[in-house]
Amino acid sequence: MCGIVGYVGAENAVEIIVDSLKKLEYRGYDSAGVTILNSDLETYKTVGKISELEKIIPVDFTGHIGIGHTRWATHGKPDTKNAHPHLSSNIAVVHNGIIENYMHLKEKLLTQGYEFLSETDTEVIAHLLHRTMKEDAKLSLLDAVRHIMTEMEGSYAVAVLCTDEPEHIVLARKDSPLVIGLGDHGYYAASDVTAFLRYTRNAVYVNDKELVLISPAGVKFYNNDGQQIEKQIDTIEWNEEAAEKAGYEHFMLKEIHEQPTSIQDTYAGKIFELEGKVILDELKMDEDQLRSLQRVTIIACGTSWNAGCVGKYLFERLAGIHTDIETASEFRYGEPVLCGQVFTLAITQSGETADTLAAIRSSRSYGCKAAAITNVVGSTITRETDSVLFTRAGPEIGVAATKTFTAQLIVLYLMAIHMGTVRGRLSPETAREILVGIKQLPGQVQKILNNKDAIKACAEHYANVQDYFFIGRHLNYPVSLEGALKLKEISYIHAEGYAAGELKHGPLALLSSETPVVAIATKGHTYDKVLSNIKEVKARSAEVIAVANQSDTEIDKYVDTVLRIPDCHELLAPVLSSVVLQLLAYYTAYARGCSIDKPRNLAKSVTVE
Ligand code: F6R
Repeated sequence: MCGIVGYVGAENAVEIIVDSLKKLEYRGYDSAGVTILNSDLETYKTVGKISELEKIIPVDFTGHIGIGHTRWATHGKPDTKNAHPHLSSNIAVVHNGIIENYMHLKEKLLTQGYEFLSETDTEVIAHLLHRTMKEDAKLSLLDAVRHIMTEMEGSYAVAVLCTDEPEHIVLARKDSPLVIGLGDHGYYAASDVTAFLRYTRNAVYVNDKELVLISPAGVKFYNNDGQQIEKQIDTIEWNEEAAEKAGYEHFMLKEIHEQPTSIQDTYAGKIFELEGKVILDELKMDEDQLRSLQRVTIIACGTSWNAGCVGKYLFERLAGIHTDIETASEFRYGEPVLCGQVFTLAITQSGETADTLAAIRSSRSYGCKAAAITNVVGSTITRETDSVLFTRAGPEIGVAATKTFTAQLIVLYLMAIHMGTVRGRLSPETAREILVGIKQLPGQVQKILNNKDAIKACAEHYANVQDYFFIGRHLNYPVSLEGALKLKEISYIHAEGYAAGELKHGPLALLSSETPVVAIATKGHTYDKVLSNIKEVKARSAEVIAVANQSDTEIDKYVDTVLRIPDCHELLAPVLSSVVLQLLAYYTAYARGCSIDKPRNLAKSVTVE
């Protein structure tokens, strides 16, 4: 997730762009840049936050038309050469999104003589535009952008400057946000309205496959066929703080709602469902290495550990690889029996958790190959491992991990399917079935979000209890652990997650009419067993809230409340159930008046032991 901005008008574009970028820093802050079009394109870029960019911009750098970018790296590490804007001769581009087929486009452009200065997917956009306008000198910048939209696969909001057409900025979007601001002293473009609320509250939201041309004379909108269209002007009522949270009251709620996008961005360009195949070049393991893999050890803490626990089930079931899941703080002081044949996998959204870093260093001292799943390009874990698989969830500001957790699950599915197909454990047909299911997840998560009122009502009903229990079996066991962790960290209610079959070995003694039990009871091979556990719970007078599939009418007979997830492949239910449990935790904490984004005693990144 990055932030783009553009400005055309009577004011100093440099000041407005820098100020607007600061408002978008929550979308990413590893590097930034600005290009102003005077007689030529003049660009300043740097690693770090916008304050670093301000330091390198000369005081006499001014102009009336320009574009800017704040980056959260997806392709290529955070450094100056990868910072936007990217240039191709007389063209400058800023981009938010992911060009999925950029490697293919880049190879073609290389053969046509284009030189690439960065590792980004965005640079292909600049060169594609340059090539298109060179091939047909009569083509306008707007038509050239429209033309290359047919070549690019993936998501994008782009803003483009070209010295041949110095009076305007051309913008386009597909699956990445873009909004235009209409001010008294100029026109603004940005990834969201926060960027320009200081200057205007009149905004026009750009839809998919629409293009925009902003100039001092005004704004024109076009459809995909190049025809000019009329758009509605909205008046934004939010203040700046509310706008930064896209109108949500908390970052956590906003981040829960971002999951359709973060899930899609994480698998983008990796799934080839028609062939029943996943491409995971970043794992840096060839087919022979994957076939000879004997054992995987997953190392993580907290929510990332819960994701790793799902990973263990997936690797064993889909790829037939013995997998251990280790708590990093225990592993680092243990005496693990490891050898060079063991593949270790660190899961850490921040990439900075001290225990996970120490544990992975320890595993490498045994000669193990190590990989990492992380959300932060350039974080320490990326330098401590042989290969890195990035989640593309964008910055997560709420302390409680939400969108990074489901993005971690997506990477684990992709790894398990990739390893399973290469090792011959998984047929292309079964792989295809799961991959098709993964591609349905964004829409299914959206359905849960659209129907969140039932979850809110349930949360409010039980908001004053002292204890909560969460139970599940197989893949739903770590989901219950994650549900309990989310609830306790933000609502301060004591909550425990258990393997449902373990209840009778002790925890049943704690149950009473005062202790609601959340049973993750989605359809699958352990469903009947969980129903039996629900009956055990009901026999102790505890009230049961089931998380169950939409079409499951049987469950209503046994429980007090049912929270629904859409029907899906059995193995994919953890993603959907987790979204339900995140909302349950959020609305419980809300009803109790807790500090949701910054829960007491907790930090987002635990860089000390
Ligand atoms: C809970 C949460 C923590 C983290 C844990 C590990 O919502 O966020 O439990 O999961 O501190 O952090 P990372 O994934 O950054 O290593």
